[in-house]
Amino acid sequence: MSPFVVEGVGKRFGRSEVLKEITFEIQPGERVAIIGPSGAGKTTLFRLLTAVIRPTEGRILAMGQDTARLRSRALRRLRRDIGVLYQSDNLIPQLRVVHNVLMGHLGHWSLPRAILSLIWPQDLKGARAALRRVELEDKLWSMPGELSGGQQQRVAMARLLVQQPKVMLADEPVSQLDIRLGREIITLLSSIARENGTTLLVNLHTLELLHGHFERVIALKEGRLFWQGAPEAITADLLQQLYGTEYQALHLDQLATTDR
Ligand SMILES: Nc1ncnc2c1ncn2[C@@H]1O[C@H](COP(=O)(O)OP(=O)(O)OP(=O)(O)O)[C@@H](O)[C@H]1O
Ligand SMILES: [Mg+2]
Repeated sequence: MSPFVVEGVGKRFGRSEVLKEITFEIQPGERVAIIGPSGAGKTTLFRLLTAVIRPTEGRILAMGQDTARLRSRALRRLRRDIGVLYQSDNLIPQLRVVHNVLMGHLGHWSLPRAILSLIWPQDLKGARAALRRVELEDKLWSMPGELSGGQQQRVAMARLLVQQPKVMLADEPVSQLDIRLGREIITLLSSIARENGTTLLVNLHTLELLHGHFERVIALKEGRLFWQGAPEAITADLLQQLYGTEYQALHLDQLATTDR
């Protein structure tokens, strides 16, 4: 089953039409990057996919279910199946790393078990294994504030690993970090997706990170689906059209092949 089917979707906030006639389908296990200039509608699209907001036009099937018709129970199940990595990592600062990681179980655990876990960590082994995967096993008992930005992102990723979602969504997970850390995060996300067969959707500003990690790129411009294709098919010309004046600032020259 396709994790997402988007059919003629439009989204209006009051009088402003933020997304228009968006149609695409995501295949199971596919790794897709969404790109486009600031304000193009990338975050809005993610909020539609996770059923935080509903389309004003068209239809979205998330895990086969119309997001506009989901009731609370089905919505909870959907949120469990879709793991989201936010731009600023949203760890709970008062809780040690181990408890933050085990928050990934919330959709699966009963409330008493979740509360008990705060005193006596349930599934310590799982938390340890997830932290090992992101190379932070030694930070199990640290407080989030004692970690660097990149390490906090990796803790958030360990929480995703514990959650074991069918789909991972990341909204510009790297823009706060420097390019080296960004590369690390994207590499980790895409290799986890590959290993586990998890579908991955990432909103990306750092286009240098497209190559090698994503099978398809969807480009949005002014609320419309402007282009889609393989990362290798992106040309300087296309980027110029997509980003306009922003283009120079992005230093993309080395990314696209001019002579195609
Ligand atoms: N709740 C809202 N009410 C009104 N307008 C909104 C709302 N959410 C988003 N918008 C508008 O929709 C447009 C797209 O916003 P969105 O956050 O989706 O862009 P984006 O592509 O994620 O940009 P960025 O790259 O800067 O994060 C913007 O013009 C924004 O002002
Ligand atoms: Mg955004």
